[in-house]
Amino acid sequence: MPIYHTLGSIPPKRHTQFRKPDGTLYAEELVSTEGFSSLYSLVYHTYPPTIVKALGEPYSVEPKIAREKHLKHTSLIGFNIEPVDDYLQSRKPVLVNADLHISLAAPRKSMTDYFYKNSQADEVIFIHVGSGTLKTGFGKIRFEYGDYLVVPRGTIYQLEFDTPDNRLFIVESFSPIRSPKRYRNAYGQLMEHSPYCERDIKRPTDLETHDEKGDFKILIKKQGLIYPYIYGTHPFDFIGWDGFHYPWAFSIHDFEPITGRLHQPPPVHQTFEGNNFVICSFVPRKFDYHPLSIPAPYNHSNVDSDEVLYYVDGDFMSRKSVVKGQITLHPGGIPHGPAPGSVEKSIGKEFTDELAVMIDPFRPLMLTEDAVRIEDENYYKSWVI
Ligand SMILES: [Fe+2]
Repeated sequence: MPIYHTLGSIPPKRHTQFRKPDGTLYAEELVSTEGFSSLYSLVYHTYPPTIVKALGEPYSVEPKIAREKHLKHTSLIGFNIEPVDDYLQSRKPVLVNADLHISLAAPRKSMTDYFYKNSQADEVIFIHVGSGTLKTGFGKIRFEYGDYLVVPRGTIYQLEFDTPDNRLFIVESFSPIRSPKRYRNAYGQLMEHSPYCERDIKRPTDLETHDEKGDFKILIKKQGLIYPYIYGTHPFDFIGWDGFHYPWAFSIHDFEPITGRLHQPPPVHQTFEGNNFVICSFVPRKFDYHPLSIPAPYNHSNVDSDEVLYYVDGDFMSRKSVVKGQITLHPGGIPHGPAPGSVEKSIGKEFTDELAVMIDPFRPLMLTEDAVRIEDENYYKSWVI
């Protein structure tokens, strides 16, 4: 996130001697997602982050593809994904392509006996149900319903949940997640027309330095495999850090909608972007106020992208009988639009309380075995009058 942040103790000059009270050196590490070409931070560890004691046997968590090519409007009933105690095992990839993986998860338990690091993708974890704390070496972030947790690749983390009742919608992005470029000025600051600004960004707080030696299990994801590593020091041993690269959060409830006299196009809802996809937030807002306006969206054929909607809450104006946690996938190439009757019904309405996350990937998505298990097979006929 392009806001400079610092926590804990750091030396006045980078790459210089920075010593512990006992006279030995702290270990400096540069962390980034695009080499030396983009955002980075400098981290100061109590011990070098390199002390590997043992390696476990890697295992695959590669999505199993059930439908590689398709041209069918599809709906998945997301809350039919079974809750699972363990966080990593609870994550079920449902829609995937070479740019992103979309997963659903209903973890019941906090991560206590291992840490996790995704070395191949940034993660956006949308909290649909539940609350808790994201714990990292950078500090902690409290999260609650509606938060997007943005965890850059390479960040070691644990999730601590307040209760066993959790529902997560997770995007793994193989390119860095960023705010849309058109929202930022040449210096990276979010501009006046952006639907959110720096004050809305939750940054890590409460840095706790774990000066601990022992056996620390870190499960590292790379190229579809989980590599179990045993490190000799606690991964949250940061004494301090500074820079622009760190986990952060943004609440969908802080997204300020852009409205107009006539129906506004999807880009006004854009929240984040990665290479070849965008993430948008549909939030409660006043409807269009031209005297003859039609608030329901027009039919459209999204020729250049698939369109994924994840329904979070509220009454969806374009479709009845939508349930929380439902996903619709409208593939590029064939038109879709409001359900029968909903155009007339929308006329004269002044407000919508719909809440949803939309993802438009510019390359087609594949469906996994977990996706077809929770599919509403008749969805494609839902426009029949
Ligand atoms: Fe659409």
